[in-house]
Amino acid sequence: GAPRRLSISKIEEGERVTVEWRGQPVWVVRRTQEMLDRLEGLGERLEDPNSKENQQPEYVSGTYRSVKPEFLVVVGICTHLGCSPSYRPEPGAEGLGDDWPGGFFCACHGSKFDLSGRVYTGVPAPTNLVVPPHRFEDDGETIAVG
Ligand code: FES
Repeated sequence: GAPRRLSISKIEEGERVTVEWRGQPVWVVRRTQEMLDRLEGLGERLEDPNSKENQQPEYVSGTYRSVKPEFLVVVGICTHLGCSPSYRPEPGAEGLGDDWPGGFFCACHGSKFDLSGRVYTGVPAPTNLVVPPHRFEDDGETIAVG
């Protein structure tokens, strides 16, 4: 199928936008520098901080799992049993603990993911959220998914 295209100017700083791709929701999050900073040093709390267990494009790696650090692109489906996690970017979000650095929370069975879609240890989801193929077009003005 054709890639889904999204103008990055439509995305506010800190905002998550959803596009549909192959019948799945794909989230694009425009991360602020502060959000990126909060991802540093989470490694010990994560099941697979370097996404070794994941299928993801080889051009994304490491902490940010993205082509450009500012833009996270992930499939918005929990890797446990397929619920849709909620976007909880605020640190210390109510019910998620004072040490919550922002991320995604799946209310179905309590799985938690960071702002790179990496799963925390001790929750039901076995793997990180999936990063779909994506790239930048139009001098970086557009994200194409697929
Ligand atoms: Fe998300 Fe079970 S489906 S925790």
